[in-house]
Amino acid sequence: MTLDEIYARIWDCLRRAAADAPQEAPSFVTMQAATVGIDGAPSVRTVLLRDVSEPEGLISFHTDRRSPKLAELVKEPRIALVGVDARHSLQIRLAGTAGIVLDDAARRLAWISSPDHSLIVYRTTIAPGTRIYDPDDAFGADHIGDEADGFANFCVVKVRLDSLEWLKHSSNERHERARYIRVGGAWEPTWIAP
Ligand SMILES: Cc1cc2nc3c(=O)[nH]c(=O)nc-3n(C[C@H](O)[C@H](O)[C@H](O)COP(=O)(O)O)c2cc1C
Repeated sequence: MTLDEIYARIWDCLRRAAADAPQEAPSFVTMQAATVGIDGAPSVRTVLLRDVSEPEGLISFHTDRRSPKLAELVKEPRIALVGVDARHSLQIRLAGTAGIVLDDAARRLAWISSPDHSLIVYRTTIAPGTRIYDPDDAFGADHIGDEADGFANFCVVKVRLDSLEWLKHSSNERHERARYIRVGGAWEPTWIAP
């Protein structure tokens, strides 16, 4: 593939992931998002891609305002994400700067468009990361707030990407690794050694 074709494929993979489209093509529905921990140690976890905009160079994911990653991103907004589709021997790496969406209308739209099952987690009054004695404790009737409580905890994180990377391993050993760095409003592509 050419660098232009790979660029288009990266965004196609991300768009399909956010749409949760059934995929024959490589799947990046979940990605691992790395932040700098409050103590400076690396911190990584899985997130679901929720929205993607190639023209703006943006991706977004949803999280709980009370979760440790939010405090980490407020302190150090730089974030890196990686996804792998082992079936296709394909890795996509992303890096950029995270911003928390404050606009209530945009948050409401994201809240409404999320599947119900994922919203209950925002309604528990027990913050993510709190030590509990039994898995049921966090979702016990005593600890479930109403929808307004859930919405208050619901957070949309947008990441303005400044680096994209593609690595495709191939059985004929023509491994392809390409990087795209945002310079001003444009993406500068380059091949790099795998
Ligand atoms: C399949 C899967 C998808 C997940 N998606 C999300 C997500 O979109 N947002 C999120 O905050 N946590 C998600 N999680 C949970 C996180 O990986 C993590 O455990 C949690 O957010 C706490 O992270 P933190 O302590 O670093 O803030 C997901 C976990 C799994 C297993």
